[in-house]
Amino acid sequence: MAIVSPSVLTCDFLSFRDLLPQLEASGVDMLHIDVMDGNFVPNISFGVPIIKSIRKYTDIPIDTHLMIDTPHRYIEEFAKYSDWLGFHYEAGSDPVATLKKIRELGVKSTITIKPNTNAEEIFHLLPLCDMVLVMSVEPGFGGQKFMESSLSKVAALKAERDRQGLQFLIEIDGGINAQTAPLAVNAGVDVLVAGSFVFDSGNMNEKIAELKAL
Ligand code: DX5
Ligand code: ZN
Repeated sequence: MAIVSPSVLTCDFLSFRDLLPQLEASGVDMLHIDVMDGNFVPNISFGVPIIKSIRKYTDIPIDTHLMIDTPHRYIEEFAKYSDWLGFHYEAGSDPVATLKKIRELGVKSTITIKPNTNAEEIFHLLPLCDMVLVMSVEPGFGGQKFMESSLSKVAALKAERDRQGLQFLIEIDGGINAQTAPLAVNAGVDVLVAGSFVFDSGNMNEKIAELKAL
């Protein structure tokens, strides 16, 4: 069974609250929340207030994906409303200090890598990670095409997890659908993020069940 973390990026936030009971009933494991600052990525989404509101209305664990520059400046605020908190290795914060800080705040730590970053670059950080997020599209927008080059990174991270005797989860984000999700799971992915596949389908429950069954 794959762990499923739907990305709410494309949802209508003024009606999102009405969707929560259905999401809870669907058995999703996490809610993937994409924070974009218009600098680290060319798009702007939302910040702490939206996550704080979502937190208020559901107990589904919140999986925050920060796509912002110098994320260490905002870790404390986001940690208040997140169960999993991830930032990009490429975003200009000291990764060791930032991962430690997240754990000190009692939140699960995630390091995220963009498509052009090799998995080997973060091997030394893995003991500090509860999850590693491999981007399978350039971060910034939903609805992009899955990059198969992400699969070898997943396999490399899985092998290194075994080699170091670690427990972190491997998550993938971008272009996940009925065709690409099985490839990801076969390569070693534990957590599937899916945005457009789940929310633009008109049949959210069915799509979530399809991913969970992998
Ligand atoms: C993209 C975001 C994703 C996005 C995924 O930068 O990190 O979480 O919402 O959307 P899909 O599943 O449509 O590729
Ligand atoms: Zn994301």
